[in-house]
Amino acid sequence: MKIQRPCTKEKEQILEILKEDIGKEYLEDMVNEVDRVVEGKQDGLVLKEGKEILGYISWQRKIKTIYLETIAVKKEFQRKGYGRILVSSFLEHATRKNPDIEVLNVITDADAKKAISFYQSCGFQVSGSVNNEFIPDTPQVHLSLKINKQK
Ligand SMILES: CC(C)(COP(=O)(O)OP(=O)(O)OC[C@H]1O[C@@H](n2cnc3c(N)ncnc32)[C@H](O)[C@@H]1OP(=O)(O)O)[C@@H](O)C(=O)NCCC(=O)NCCS
Repeated sequence: MKIQRPCTKEKEQILEILKEDIGKEYLEDMVNEVDRVVEGKQDGLVLKEGKEILGYISWQRKIKTIYLETIAVKKEFQRKGYGRILVSSFLEHATRKNPDIEVLNVITDADAKKAISFYQSCGFQVSGSVNNEFIPDTPQVHLSLKINKQK
């Protein structure tokens, strides 16, 4: 198993994984995001077994925090710990490049119970809920993870 930055020719494989499980409303933004990631304009990683991509994660710095933008694991490989491996690789990469950062954030649909339990299992805590944020009448939950800076 390898974790690395994706390259341009892996774009379609990543989009296939995202289309399996993420709402259609998000598709156009996700295509643009994956374009930026494979072009090296935004941070992101893929988890691979040989040439097969099993998972994808992307993030962005915003002011003094980092937002985990998208995470997805190929359906048949879910619930095997790959999501958690992607989050810990993201933590390592993001904090190495941004040593001043103390908070990581993520936003997800409030009805996405599986995603919320997943983020909580990675140490994120719910910090609030916002209505009409990305989609009218669809509340979003915000979760944060404070990084322990003790050395
Ligand atoms: C969310 C997602 C990335 C999790 O990846 P994963 O590889 O299945 O997660 P892991 O196997 O590392 O799970 C870690 C923990 O998260 C929690 N979790 C994961 N899937 C869960 C589910 N379906 N229901 C409840 N808890 C879940 C569990 O606590 C799990 O630990 P356990 O298996 O020891 O009980 C994956 O389900 C996915 O790709 N979903 C579709 C895309 C998506 O919704 N992304 C998030 C919004 S961008």
